[in-house]
Amino acid sequence: MSERTNDLSKRIILALDFASPSEVYHCLDQLADDVRYVKIGMELFYAGGVEIIHVLKERGLQVFVDLKVHDIPNTAKGAIRSLVHHGVDMVNVHVAGGAKMMEAAREGLEQGTPSGAPRPLLIGVTMLTSTSQQTMNQEILIPGSVEETVTHYALLAKQAGLDGVVASPLEVPVIKQAAGESFITVTPGIRPAGSDKGDQTRVTTPEEAFRLGSDYIVIGRAITTAPEPRLAWQNMIDSLKERA
Ligand code: C5P
Repeated sequence: MSERTNDLSKRIILALDFASPSEVYHCLDQLADDVRYVKIGMELFYAGGVEIIHVLKERGLQVFVDLKVHDIPNTAKGAIRSLVHHGVDMVNVHVAGGAKMMEAAREGLEQGTPSGAPRPLLIGVTMLTSTSQQTMNQEILIPGSVEETVTHYALLAKQAGLDGVVASPLEVPVIKQAAGESFITVTPGIRPAGSDKGDQTRVTTPEEAFRLGSDYIVIGRAITTAPEPRLAWQNMIDSLKERA
């Protein structure tokens, strides 16, 4: 990431996986101004529509819309074009859609970015952080290790003109080695020490994720469902500062 900021709070993306905009506002009000970057996933997007993007942008937040587009190239291109029109900062597609789909998405991104606005980042989803090697081999029928697949997907995404990939922090070193330092890594599967893994399998702590070289970490339930979200956030920031 060429212009990577030293301010870690700008590199922590809070996953707003809520069923309604009102729950989002309640959560953000509790967290005060600490949060700078948020993620709208399918649950919130399908509940709040594009309106929620505008509301969060008006609050001065950076917004990653995580809809994991995966369709034929023409449809993926149109989806990304429509989405970036709303002034988002980051969007994504599944690398498994193939090179032509990713190239089309990139074209859609360029066509849809409002004139004068910075081009949003286009990120490829490699292997979901909830997918174990066993699931990948035995259910999805992709042989080999997760690391091999993720590295191959990262290179494919780079060749297709994407800015980076979503992966587990555990795979960041091999991705950077294969695709270069400036190729962005966005890593979910983050669990502060002692918190519940839930449905995720390939996880690390926030400190470990940054140590491994993640450009952005994505964290959701460990903060949003904590009894005191602000305290959980502050504890995370404090342990990151200790590491620094
Ligand atoms: O609550 P938790 O911290 O597990 O949330 C992780 C977020 O990152 C979820 O919104 C999930 O959809 C998203 N995500 C993921 N793995 C990917 C891509 C996105 O967990 N590969």
